[in-house]
Amino acid sequence: MRPGGIWAAPGRVNIIGEHTDYNGGYCLPMALPQVVRCTAMPRTDGRVRVGSQQHPADRIDVPLAGLAESQVTGWARYPLGVVYEYHRRGHRIPGVDLELDGSVPIGAGLSSSAAIECSVAIALRDLFELSVSDAELIDIANKAENDYVGAPTGTLDQTASIRCIAGHALFLDAGTGETAQVPFDLAAKGLALLIVDTNTPHALVNGEYARRRRECEAAAAELGVERLRDVTDLQALAVLTDPVLRRRARHVVSENARVLAVVEALRDGSDPRAIGPILTAAHSSLRDDFMVSTAQLDTAVEAALDAGAHGARMVGGGFGGSIIALIDARFTDRVVTEVEKRFRAARFAEPRTFTAVPSAGARRVDHP
Ligand code: GLA
Repeated sequence: MRPGGIWAAPGRVNIIGEHTDYNGGYCLPMALPQVVRCTAMPRTDGRVRVGSQQHPADRIDVPLAGLAESQVTGWARYPLGVVYEYHRRGHRIPGVDLELDGSVPIGAGLSSSAAIECSVAIALRDLFELSVSDAELIDIANKAENDYVGAPTGTLDQTASIRCIAGHALFLDAGTGETAQVPFDLAAKGLALLIVDTNTPHALVNGEYARRRRECEAAAAELGVERLRDVTDLQALAVLTDPVLRRRARHVVSENARVLAVVEALRDGSDPRAIGPILTAAHSSLRDDFMVSTAQLDTAVEAALDAGAHGARMVGGGFGGSIIALIDARFTDRVVTEVEKRFRAARFAEPRTFTAVPSAGARRVDHP
């Protein structure tokens, strides 16, 4: 056991590949500079204490042995779920104090929950010198969210938070868990990735995400494949009798092809502006076929495109959250102004905007 320390794990933004992870498909996220920091100190009395700078009134103190039955709700279930998952797998944790402090916007589709899970997962591994590979770390964080929190999400967010590196996007094959780093240096080409948080929080525990997942599974079953990832030919979807399932499957199959096209363009050194129309096509597919967009997300995408963005799309699970726009860096103010103007005209909540550079994955931050 080591003395305490401070670890950090980033939120992520997905450049392309939405709702593909739980279909065994492809994604291309990058880590954000915004992180959750976890200060962890060992205890020897079998208790887990959790606090958060963002929720100073809630201090949780529970026995490890009682985690399975704990009725704690809200943000604290994410860190507790990670401790529980280690414990359930037989990793010895004698007790721990965890203090969280996050700057990843919450409910913005930028994986604040994975940043919490991964900061705690990496802190516990280092602190108690647990023999856990990065792949298992990702699985522990993911199962905390699926089983303890009850959100049936895929592995995109946790994989990004653990495996991303600065200056790169991460090409993830969620079917195998394999990843590859893809250079993604927009600034060198005079470009920027603008994030617009529409300030309409989403909640993945609600039923729509789970419903999309079930629809994809039903489509795969009718097509006679294990996962939609196994279908690459859009024509094959014609046999689906239910038009809703056909649309859902069409999004997933076409989105996987879009990820591969973007990765190829970035790898062969093409001007990154070339990926713009592919991002915009992904938005249309999420809006029309997967039906997870909202009026705010559509308005932000249209405003960005009208103000000169090369491409734009909603990111994350949808039903609120953020969009990304690939823009010429010198036009940032123009795009932001246009988005704000349209939001005011539509009487939407005020959006939050920032540009993001591909940043580092989870790590110890007090002494490297
Ligand atoms: C959420 C989930 C991910 C992924 C995306 C959609 O972020 O946590 O697993 O399914 O939605 O791509």
